[in-house]
Amino acid sequence: MSLVKSEKEIELIRASCKIVANVLTYIKDFIKEGTTTFEIDRLIEEFILKSGGYPAFKGYGSGKNKYPASSCISVNEEVVHGIPAERKLVNGDIVSVDVGVLKDGFYGDAAYTFEVGEVSAKKKRLLNVTRESLYKGISQARDGNELNDIASAVQDYVEGSGYGVVRDLCGHGIGSHLHEEPAVLNYYNPKNRFRIVKGMTIAIEPMVNYGTYAIKTLKDGWTTVTKDKEPSAHFEHTVLVTDGEPEILTKSFY
Ligand code: MF3
Ligand code: CO
Repeated sequence: MSLVKSEKEIELIRASCKIVANVLTYIKDFIKEGTTTFEIDRLIEEFILKSGGYPAFKGYGSGKNKYPASSCISVNEEVVHGIPAERKLVNGDIVSVDVGVLKDGFYGDAAYTFEVGEVSAKKKRLLNVTRESLYKGISQARDGNELNDIASAVQDYVEGSGYGVVRDLCGHGIGSHLHEEPAVLNYYNPKNRFRIVKGMTIAIEPMVNYGTYAIKTLKDGWTTVTKDKEPSAHFEHTVLVTDGEPEILTKSFY
């Protein structure tokens, strides 16, 4: 497994990413009051299978507690890895939907945080800053840059906006595995001198907390929540490093 992908591999990653993008566009209209996160997950799974892909998160993990669903759906103070369940969405919720697809041996991965009905100005600003931080990070995914350039771009913008950027979780390389080297941190780390080169495919995914960056994992072994119970947002794209502008392989409506 090479971190620099061949043209052939890139085409396969591109195809999986296209399905991911289509899923997020499709699910948009179903994010409304009264819908359960389980119903959303069913729709996502059906859509992926109909598209000729396989839900990459389903059965993920090496231990006993494998991830049980086709998507991660995380509401309000849930940061990521929320397990779809009977919880009904209510007006004012913010809902991160994270989708991964495996097709012909290659992966795509993206996430978007949706609004349910009328969302508070507090949450709206959190969403705008988090989405913008993703694009600031993506703009640094250039041949010759370091991963720290991505990390700093995200961190400076998020912290400058008064929010906390999660440190215990990060983005990742992606290809014939969902999670590959390198780890794509969202904060500057002086020890990390990893250089980005053309042909790498990476998933950049800032998780931004309204309050502090501290998170904890619930007893289900998956769902992470903010320690201070304040809301959190999450946006992700799979990106190809080129010799020019980064190419967003999961590009959809955002
Ligand atoms: N987008 C997340 C990630 O890249 C989702 C992983 S969910 C899991 O880490 F179940 F697959 F772990
Ligand atoms: Co990811």
